[in-house]
Amino acid sequence: MTQLLITGAATADGNRTDLFVRDGVFAPPSEAGADVERIDADGLLALPGLVDLHTHLREPGREDAETVATGTAAAARGGFTAVHAMANTDPVTDTAEAAEYVLGLGEREGHCQVVPVGAVTKGLAGEELAELGLMATSRARVRMFSDDGRCVSDSLLMRRALTYARTYGGVIAQHSQDPRLAGPGACCHESEISGRLGLPGWPSQAESVIVARDVQLAELAGARLHVCHVSTAESVDVIRWAKRRGIAVTAEVTPHHLLLDTPLVEGFDTTFKVNPPLRTSEHLEAVREALADGTIDAVATDHAPHARQDKDHPFDIALPGMLGLEQALAVVAEVMVNTGRMDWPTLVERMSATPARIGRLAGQGRPVAVGEPANLVLVDPAARAVVDGAASASRSRNNPYHGRELPDPVVATIWAGTVTYRR
Ligand code: DOR
Repeated sequence: MTQLLITGAATADGNRTDLFVRDGVFAPPSEAGADVERIDADGLLALPGLVDLHTHLREPGREDAETVATGTAAAARGGFTAVHAMANTDPVTDTAEAAEYVLGLGEREGHCQVVPVGAVTKGLAGEELAELGLMATSRARVRMFSDDGRCVSDSLLMRRALTYARTYGGVIAQHSQDPRLAGPGACCHESEISGRLGLPGWPSQAESVIVARDVQLAELAGARLHVCHVSTAESVDVIRWAKRRGIAVTAEVTPHHLLLDTPLVEGFDTTFKVNPPLRTSEHLEAVREALADGTIDAVATDHAPHARQDKDHPFDIALPGMLGLEQALAVVAEVMVNTGRMDWPTLVERMSATPARIGRLAGQGRPVAVGEPANLVLVDPAARAVVDGAASASRSRNNPYHGRELPDPVVATIWAGTVTYRR
C-alpha cells in the first residue's frame, strides 16, 4: 500500500502540519522513512475528503451517460472520497440484490467509496414500499432511501417509509416537488421569465408545501427526514421552523442552486434545465444564508449526467439535470468562502463531516489527524481557471460551468490511503 509524506500543508483552521499516509491511515510523520514518496504541499490546505449525499452514477442502465468508473473519477477530481449513488437507475435500486450490485460495482471500479441509496417505492412508482428492511440489512447496509427524481407524494406512504427507515437508523431523502403544483411539463421557475419564454413554470411553493408536510410526518413518525436540493426561501423558512421545534430534519443545497439563477434559461440552453429549477436571486440569497447559518446542513451535488441525445431537444422536453462533482468545491469556495460568508472549517462541516454523519458513514468525514482514515483533499485556495467542460472525467458534457472562471482548488485527492487524483 502507498506510503506518502505530505509536507507543509495547513489544516482548515490554519495549523501547518506534515501528514504521513501509511496503510490507509494517517501515521505519525516521524515514522516516515527517508526514501518515502513526498508531496510538497506548501501553501495548500489539507481537508478531509468530501462526501456527496446525492450523485447520479447512471449505472446500471445508462452507461452511455455515466458509469461508476467515470462518475467516481469525476468525484475524485472534485475532491470527493465518497458518493451516495441515487436509486433512479435501470433497474431501479429497490431490492437488496440491486443495492449489493451497485456496492460491488463501486468496490471493483470506484475511484471513491460508492454508497448505494435505496428507492423508497418499488420502481419509483410511488405506490408500494420497496424492500427497505432487506436493503438495510443486506451487505450494502443501505441507510439512505430516496425516490429522487420523483417525490413520494402519497402522505400515508411517506409516513410508513419514515417509520420503516427509523427502525434501521435510516433516513428518507425526499425530492420535494408537489406533482400537481409542478406537473410533469414544468421545467422552469414560475416567474416573469417563464411567462415570457412560454415555458411551463413551477412555483417555489410546489417545493415548500411538501417540505412542510414532510417535517410534520417526520415528527409524527419520530424519524429522520433529509430534504434534497433545497432551492427556495420558503423551504428554508419551514426547515428553520422545524429545527427550532426539534424535528430531526436535515437539508442539502446544490452548488448550482447557490450560484446559477433563472435568467440563464433565457437562451433555451438545456444545460440549464434542472429539477428543481434555477431560481431567482432572492432565493439564491436565502439558501446561501441558510447554508452559512446551518439551517441547510450540507452541500450535495445532484450530479446528473445526461447523454447528448437526451439534452439536444426543445427545452420543455430535454431531460433535467447538470454535472456537479468536479466544480462543487470551486462553486462553494467562490460563493461562500471568497465572499466572507463562510470559513474553511465550516465548509468542511458542510461538505464532509455533516454529510458523512447524515449518511452514517463511519470512515468518512473524519478529521485529518493521526490514527484517522487517510481520506484527504489537498486544496489550493488561490488557484483559478476557466472551466473546460470538454476536459471532464464524466462521460457527459452537460456542465453548466463551462467557460466560466472559477476557483480551481483540487490539487490531489487521497481515498483510503490511495491517490485517486493528482493534478
Ligand atoms: O435535475 C434533476 N435530474 N433532478 C433530479 O432530481 C433528478 C436528476 C436526474 O436523475 O437526472
